[in-house]
Amino acid sequence: MYSLVYESNMIKTLTDLEFQELMHTSYLNNSIHDITGILVLYKHKFVQIIEGESSTIKSLYSKINVDKRHHKIRLLAEGYINKRSFSEWFMAYFNPSISNDNFTTEGELKKYLLDFLSKDTLSNKVAIMFYLKITEMFKNLDEV
Ligand SMILES: Cc1cc2nc3c(=O)[nH]c(=O)nc-3n(C[C@H](O)[C@H](O)[C@H](O)COP(=O)(O)O)c2cc1C
Repeated sequence: MYSLVYESNMIKTLTDLEFQELMHTSYLNNSIHDITGILVLYKHKFVQIIEGESSTIKSLYSKINVDKRHHKIRLLAEGYINKRSFSEWFMAYFNPSISNDNFTTEGELKKYLLDFLSKDTLSNKVAIMFYLKITEMFKNLDEV
């Protein structure tokens, strides 16, 4: 089992439809290939963690790496893991221009995600890096 976490910047604001398309393709592909993880889109920045068979994860990352919908892709951590930290595909985002059924405020999204992550055992360094990045991403909210 292999896991990888990266961050990137959205090239331009994706429309509601473009975003849904991205989520739909990812969801289908990930369920077929037994890839689990979380994608967070927050203020035009993506942070994603993916887990699965090593060759599957490496080939997905090489596709993601050349995807024109984002740039400045930075690999934060990768490596072999004993077990998955995210047993099901999960995705959370906050974008004020997109109506969002799940979260009405940034604070709500932040609380939900951090609660979710703290319940997880975060059993490997890749998952811990993901957690640290998400915490950093949301840090400014505390100062508002
Ligand atoms: C931020 C971001 C995250 C993505 N995450 C995934 C993902 O988890 N799974 C996936 O299959 N594609 C993901 N993609 C899309 C891939 O880059 C690629 O377009 C998609 O896998 C379809 O590739 P194909 O046309 O070669 O099948 C992501 C793209 C972006 C911009």
